[in-house]
Parts: sequence; structure tokens; C-alpha cells
Amino acid sequence: MNNKKYTVVDLFCGAGGLSRGFLDANFDVVLGVDFDAAALQTFEANHGFTKTMNLDLFNHDNINKIKKYLDDNKIKLDVLVGGPPCQGFSLAGKREENDKRNILYSAMVKTAKLLQPKIVVLENVPGMLKLYDGKVAERIKNDFTELGYKVKAKVLYAPNFGVPQIRKRVVFVGVKEELGDFSYPTPKVNPDDYVTCEQAISDLPSLENDNDYSLDKVRDYVTEPKSEYQKIMRKNSKNVKNHFPTKHAQKTIDNISKIPDGGNYKDLPPEESKKFKYHESLTRYCSKKPSLTIDTGHRTHFHYKYNRITSVRENARLQSFPDDFIFYGSKQQQYKQVGNAVPPLLGKAIAEKIKEVLDNEKV
Ligand SMILES: C[S@@+](CC[C@H](N)C(=O)[O-])C[C@H]1O[C@@H](n2cnc3c(N)ncnc32)[C@H](O)[C@@H]1O
Repeated sequence: MNNKKYTVVDLFCGAGGLSRGFLDANFDVVLGVDFDAAALQTFEANHGFTKTMNLDLFNHDNINKIKKYLDDNKIKLDVLVGGPPCQGFSLAGKREENDKRNILYSAMVKTAKLLQPKIVVLENVPGMLKLYDGKVAERIKNDFTELGYKVKAKVLYAPNFGVPQIRKRVVFVGVKEELGDFSYPTPKVNPDDYVTCEQAISDLPSLENDNDYSLDKVRDYVTEPKSEYQKIMRKNSKNVKNHFPTKHAQKTIDNISKIPDGGNYKDLPPEESKKFKYHESLTRYCSKKPSLTIDTGHRTHFHYKYNRITSVRENARLQSFPDDFIFYGSKQQQYKQVGNAVPPLLGKAIAEKIKEVLDNEKV
């Protein structure tokens, strides 16, 4: 077991769910880069002594600023991680360096080329593997192989790592030729033991008859933790932040009050249900299962028990962010930061396996 802290730079870092996983696995997250000021505020507040840079990665000249920061601070980079937005992949026509849509992804390749980290981790939505008949995934493998990395890709399922949410991410890992092989984390939780919505959020204040919509309002816990998961989430927190109600139209409240635990609009009387076209309309989470995938703030997923959508804090819990991880920005920005993130517990499982490769490096 090696106690050396390996350094991490996170591109397209958002609020930093992935980075939080690395931090929890004892890495030193030295820098987060994004062009969303609110997400960067959240990132900086929750990652120890990390620094952030507000840079537009469409402009590749900005990559030199990252190098300058590391050089000025005599930081040698061990791991480059990043989750470029999935719209940033395109293979229309031939390999077109200048295709605007590829520029964000190739910022990751150029940064790896310039900084020469030992390991590169690129995460994305699994649908990306099928883009252009798999040619996008092939290109990612080729680009990093050309830079001297051995590259693997695998889809990981968040509930297997203790996350109370159905969420899949594809994770590419490139390891420099001279290092040992990387192996993906194996499931830590059996399907029968997946953490459920109820186990994840049942201790949070109900917000029933609570009309305080202020984003800064701090609420008290009203019960003791009711599950192991809740104990872990509350470990470093004395109260509840980012937990505020949403005002719904009376019609929405009337409709959702008729939907049972785990149901959706199809549970309404036929004359009502036929008005809904979107298959996830009025979906109530199932208390006895992990939640559906947390999105960036669409108002279709409701609490398993109360007649409202889940709060930012409840979504954060379902993403495995502990209660002392505080989100900044407007309500919409907070929902977006949570929904965009890699669940920290999934990030930690990946980080631990990366640490094994670095620990085994021959000197
Ligand atoms: C999917 S999110 C990353 C989430 C992050 N990995 C996490 O675990 O929390 C993608 C991020 O890319 C950022 N982004 C999009 N276009 C960008 C650009 N041109 N320059 C820098 N960041 C950009 C967005 O602001 C967003 O925070």
C-alpha cells in the first residue's frame, strides 16, 4: 500500500462528481477546468485545496494555460480525467480535425499530448459507443493509442457500486505502455442488495407545507439516519442544505397525488392518461428500488411518497454526493450540476483501481 498522493486534473469538471471520487480515494485533485462559473464555484468549495480555471475548451490555446499553471507550481501530472459533453463527438465525413463538434473531445487528446499524464480517464454516456456504428469509440482508442496509451473501454452500472440510482457510464481508461495493466472495478453490491430510494432519502425533511423557497435556507434533520447509507451520507454534516421545495401547478399536484409508489401517468384514469405523450411523464420513483437516472432538471420524476419533484439534495443523495457537498448557483444550475455528474461512489471505485496501477509502477 502506497500513501503517495497522485495528482489529478479534471477537464469539463462540472461540479466535480468524478473528482470527488478521486479525492475520496486519496488522490490530490489539483485543478478543475470548465466554462461554467457556478459549477466551478461548487467544484472549488468541495475539493480541498484544489484550484479551478474558467476556460472555454473550444479554444485550444487555453490548453497552454493549464500547462503553465502546472509548470509554475511544479506539479507533475499523474492522471488526466474528463467528461467532454457528448454533443462533442461527430464523425460526419472523414476524420475532420476542424469539425467544430469534435473540438471539445480533441481538447482532451491535445491536453494529454501536452501534459503526458501516466493515465487518462474519459467518461461519457454509454450511447456514445454506438455513435456512427462504433467509429467514435474506435477513434478515441486510436487517438490515445497513438499517444502511447493502452486503451480499454467498459460500461459501468452505478448500482453495482452502491449508488441508489440506475445510471450507466462508459469509461475509457488509457494507461501508458510502460505501466502495468488496468482492470475495471468489479461489482461491490449484489442486485438483491442495491440501495433503494427509501434507504437513500427517507430521513430528509418532507417539505410538506413548507413554503420557504429560499435557496440559502438550512434545514435540520428531523430523524436519526434510517439506513447505513444515510449514516454515511450524514457523517460530516450537521444539517441539510440545497433542500428546498418546488412550486407545482395545482393540476400537477392533483395528478401526481393519484400515482402510486413506482407508478406513472398510465395509472391515471384513461381520459387523463391519454393527454400525456412522453413515456416518463408523472413518474414516481419506486421506494424499494434505485431511482431512475437523475437528469439535469426536467420536472417529470417525483418523490416516491410526496407530491413534488425531488429536491437538489435528494438528487444529490441519489447520486451519492454526501450532505457536506454543497451546490452553488441558481436552482436550475444546482439541478444541472447534480444531474451532469458522475456519481462520486462510481468515481471512487474507478479511482481505486487506477491507484493500484500507479502503486505497482516499477521504479
Ligand atoms: C457532463 S458535464 C461533466 C460532469 C463532471 N465530470 C462531473 O462528474 O461532475 C460536462 C461539463 O462540460 C462543460 N463544458 C461544456 N462545453 C465546454 C467548453 N466549451 N469549455 C469548457 N467546459 C465546457 C459543461 O459546463 C459541463 O460542466
